[in-house]
Amino acid sequence: MSNAVQAVRGMKDLLPEEAAVWQTLTRVAAEACQRYGYRQISMPIVEKTELFKRAVGEVTDIVEKEMYSFEDRNGDSLSLRPEGTAGAVRAAIEHGWTTGQTERLWYRGPMFRHERPQKGRYRQFHQIGVEVFGGAGPDIDAEIILLGERIWRDLGLKGITLQLNSLGTAESRSRYRDVLTDYLQQHRDLLDEDSLRRLERNPLRVLDSKNPALKGLIEEAPSLADHLDDESRQHFDGLRAHLDRNGIAHVLNPRLVRGLDYYSRTVFEWTTSELGAQDAVCSGGRYDDLVPMLGGRATPAAGWAMGIERITALMTGQGCPIDGSQPHVYLVMTGERCEQAGLALAESLRTALPALRLTANIGGGSFKAQFKRADRSGAELAIVIGETELEAGQVQIKHLRERDRQEAVAMNAVAPCLADTLNLARG
Ligand code: HAM
Repeated sequence: MSNAVQAVRGMKDLLPEEAAVWQTLTRVAAEACQRYGYRQISMPIVEKTELFKRAVGEVTDIVEKEMYSFEDRNGDSLSLRPEGTAGAVRAAIEHGWTTGQTERLWYRGPMFRHERPQKGRYRQFHQIGVEVFGGAGPDIDAEIILLGERIWRDLGLKGITLQLNSLGTAESRSRYRDVLTDYLQQHRDLLDEDSLRRLERNPLRVLDSKNPALKGLIEEAPSLADHLDDESRQHFDGLRAHLDRNGIAHVLNPRLVRGLDYYSRTVFEWTTSELGAQDAVCSGGRYDDLVPMLGGRATPAAGWAMGIERITALMTGQGCPIDGSQPHVYLVMTGERCEQAGLALAESLRTALPALRLTANIGGGSFKAQFKRADRSGAELAIVIGETELEAGQVQIKHLRERDRQEAVAMNAVAPCLADTLNLARG
């Protein structure tokens, strides 16, 4: 074992027992996105490093210290994507989706950040995200938030809090930056090394500091809310009115600044108290300046992304219903003739009943050994084919979770019998 190669730190295998929870989340999220008119897109995992520098921002933790960047064989600097928005915008510009029409997209896949791994924080993690191009009003901000809330509801998740803030426009933020810089300069002696660095390069990020010693200083800092421009204020009020009309509770958090530079106006984060320090399960906002910054036509845009590992941990913790992953039926067969007939029956059942999950025994074994495997598989029913059954053109259907319940069914009546017993649609 000692010289066995191990997985890269912060990168995990998705084990079969976790896969059903992931699949349930992906199914529910995909269905919700489709119901709201979002179309799926899939971008490459590798992009030019320059894209992330320009989109996420040079002075962010992600670009400064967390990117997996490398030179390819042509000497081009490429990076594993740390997030999906930059690639989605690049794709939108390339495919002409920034010409004034509203384009609603969703995506999922792995993202990579060289962060310090801990519970809920990984170096390869996975997101489901949405991005909307071409909607300037607060109705789009509201729509993506309602879509997120619907996903929590459809999953059966509870206890997720929506935090909301507005960062205003680039101009109002720049005015606020001056006021904040003055304030922080006056208290320079209290700042830690990280905050001093942020103060020089990106003072708003000081508000994001997790250092408890700075809590008081940050609480007393001038508030961005008092420096919003009128249009951003109206936009924010409009969004809040939409949310109120639709019964979406939210908490105002004037310190919510986000760790990526492309946001303007609305920013939000859904948080939970059930996952410890990594409490953000989904975050996003509006980024009206990003498309032109990356070379596209001025196009307002907004989106969010959720962390799949964090949501699935919540689903497991809260005992949310998970789509079935155990077989309905385990097929028990002894002897070559029975195996041949059994595998043919299995195929015909899979054709007749598309929703049926049937596992056929492989590798032979006594009836006893096969029933043990059937039981361990979690199946509800066993279909048994022995020589006697084969001669009679029948099978035995045994209810594995009930004592002594077994019935003989003619081969050609097995499909309708399973459809009724398991309540399955017929193909
Ligand atoms: P973000 O806040 O960096 O935003 O990430 C979104 C979500 O991904 C977080 O709320 C969290 O659930 C999850 N996440 C982030 N880092 C990790 C990690 N190291 N391990 C596990 N989960 C993590 C974005 O990525 C933006 N692109 C969101 C967006 C889309 N904004 C507009 N459109």
